[in-house]
Amino acid sequence: MQIHSPIPDLRLALRKRGRVVFVPTMGNLHAGHIALMTAARTHGDTVVASIFVNRLQFGPSDDFDLYPRTLQEDCDKLAAAGVDLLFAPTESDLYPEPQQYHVEPPESQNQLDGEFRPGHFRGVATVVLKLFNIVQPQAALFGKKDYQQLMVLRNMTRQLALPIEIIGGETVRADDGLALSSRNGYLSAAERAEAPRLQRLLQHIGTAIGAGETDFARLERDATAELDQHGWKTDYVAVRRQADLQLPEAGGKHALVVLAASRLGAARLIDNLEIDLPDGR
Ligand code: PAJ
Repeated sequence: MQIHSPIPDLRLALRKRGRVVFVPTMGNLHAGHIALMTAARTHGDTVVASIFVNRLQFGPSDDFDLYPRTLQEDCDKLAAAGVDLLFAPTESDLYPEPQQYHVEPPESQNQLDGEFRPGHFRGVATVVLKLFNIVQPQAALFGKKDYQQLMVLRNMTRQLALPIEIIGGETVRADDGLALSSRNGYLSAAERAEAPRLQRLLQHIGTAIGAGETDFARLERDATAELDQHGWKTDYVAVRRQADLQLPEAGGKHALVVLAASRLGAARLIDNLEIDLPDGR
């Protein structure tokens, strides 16, 4: 695997590489990231990964300084996964001057995660557009674990007519159902044992809706109450339409997704569950 930091080196290395498939990350790689790398291989000729902890998407009280940086282990994992090239820029490679031009996603960015992390999706969209311009891939993969992020990036790519296919990857979980995340490392042993409750509650909501429950607000309230009884601090539990993450209309026939974000100790965990009703609602 080749490793490049300065942008011109990467551009040179990417000449005559066929269809380039790109998987951006912030490092501290786990099996969820690696599943995206493996899937990327089936979508093109050259797999490019990036590792960059993007300051722009962290708020002032977020965990930018704390965010785990494990470049050497990450390189070993990427090489073992058959990644062809790693772009690992330094802060001054990517932001040699303060970034003054930004991608501003629409108002809908300010709901769900965006409500609790103001400016987060602006930071994500800006760095991803910049990475796209540097790597110039034909396809890029993002995980469904970050469901709203995937939607923001899909919409950005379509509305700005970027010639890039955006591919979503399924969420990889631990055996007990907890979605793998770099932030799981912040959990104590007791919190780690508690953490799968989040996915269990989402499944409970999915089952209830599948059985015909239509009072989504009650399901959201009950799940929030149960989390909070067990020491969580919940930002949201929300049943939304898969297509645009807007509120489902009463009686509407939509594929739904239930999304949640809640804090357990020092970790803010997010997860979601797609609910495809058998009758296509
Ligand atoms: P990061 O959190 O490192 O995630 C990189 C990619 O891995 C994202 O597309 C994310 O959705 C995916 N991912 C994380 N956990 C996963 C899991 N358990 N199963 C499947 N995929 C998973 O997301 C970011 O970095 C950044 O916001 C980034 C897009 C790189 C922009 O800075």
